[in-house]
Amino acid sequence: SSGVTRGPDGALRVAGADVRDIAREHGTPAYVLDEADFRRRARTYREAFTRAFATIGTGVDVYYAGKAFLSVAVARWAHEEGLRVDTATGGELAVALRAGVPGADIGLHGNNKSDAEIARALDAGVGRLIVDSLAEVDRVADAAARTGRRAPVMVRVTTGIHAGGHEYISTAHEDQKFGLSVAGGQALEALHAVLARPELELLGLHSHIGSQILDAAGFEEAARTLLRLRADLHEGTGYLLGEVDLGGGYGVAYLPGETPVDPVEVAGRLAATVGAVCTELGTPVPRISIEPGRAIVGPTTFTLYTVGTVKPVTVEGDDGAFTRTYVSVDGGMSDNLRPALYGAQYTATVASRAAATDTARSRVVGKHCESGDIVVHDVRLAADVRPGDLLAVPVTGAYGRSMASNYNHVPRPPVLAVTDGVVRVLVRRETEDDLLALDLG
Ligand code: LLP
Repeated sequence: SSGVTRGPDGALRVAGADVRDIAREHGTPAYVLDEADFRRRARTYREAFTRAFATIGTGVDVYYAGKAFLSVAVARWAHEEGLRVDTATGGELAVALRAGVPGADIGLHGNNKSDAEIARALDAGVGRLIVDSLAEVDRVADAAARTGRRAPVMVRVTTGIHAGGHEYISTAHEDQKFGLSVAGGQALEALHAVLARPELELLGLHSHIGSQILDAAGFEEAARTLLRLRADLHEGTGYLLGEVDLGGGYGVAYLPGETPVDPVEVAGRLAATVGAVCTELGTPVPRISIEPGRAIVGPTTFTLYTVGTVKPVTVEGDDGAFTRTYVSVDGGMSDNLRPALYGAQYTATVASRAAATDTARSRVVGKHCESGDIVVHDVRLAADVRPGDLLAVPVTGAYGRSMASNYNHVPRPPVLAVTDGVVRVLVRRETEDDLLALDLG
């Protein structure tokens, strides 16, 4: 994150705190998050999109996608910075509500919402439920009828666009579980079905095309499809949808030399496209919303580990044998599943001291009982890395803690926020007692 520097003796400092002090007081592994950086990224997205879309005369709502990482504190920070909160389950909804985010500023997603989740969202007065199937139109309408209040809904559509880093996180091609197909006609059918139920208030259209997307083209293509569908509905029924949500997916830089999405540039291109397409179609410009998660929280956080076993392994490469240094840390796939699940790439650096400048071809691995338990696949680490060193793995704020598990009965690490040199525990470390408390013998 932008608040990370090296102190005079070479140890990493984040927002004025020395990582050695953090490790001494809170232990490792730990997720270390820079609050100011989180707030800055939230503001940057809100301002970039608000400014760009102001030029075509419309407003923007930025929803922080809580699935990337949600805790009471970050939900509050996002809201204080003028963002709303996007939730995908009753659990995420509970965190946002606990944070004091008003229901009106919360959205609820999900391709398989339970009746309890729908009821809870309606009771909380959520600003919108994103409907994901034809069957759900009736389920939400029936639930709304019981509460006596109209339910505000968006219809999630599948635009057929394939974008994003990995098949598992691309969400708008046809053969997957999310949304209603525009090409297949189910999207239009769902819009008619919503309009036919007086218990529902139809707000607009939603699409999310994927995650870790690095250029604007896919978002522009999705916007075109949504705006055309909106114009078709208008032509057919006279109903003009007020809002179009373009989802999240803005990519970050995980490795040195990678370039993250520039929100100012993407917002500018998107606003130009939305403006031009609306002019072409002869429809007024809708209100726009977006749902960034990774781009807000990912780069704000690094994972701090302690190095244990260091083991040279002779490997047969294409150009002959070489030595790979296996550097084991005190966590692994239980605190960062992304390398194992998506082949995601990270880098690592010795954090507790100025390490040697000569490097060795290394692999950072965890403590779990399988060889796929890899944190960093291939990295040039200081050749003198040794047990007891602290190791930092940057850009773990998104989908790190949120996808963490207790594999091998490993307690999940804490999330620590640093603000002006002061460290605060946002989510405490799990203990063995926490885990054993669930085991009723
Ligand atoms: N909105 C919707 C409807 C989504 O499904 C998602 C992510 C987002 C917003 C936020 O996307 P972001 O801006 O964070 O890319 N576990 C995977 C990512 C899964 C994303 C699922 N949906 C990973 O670790 O890469």
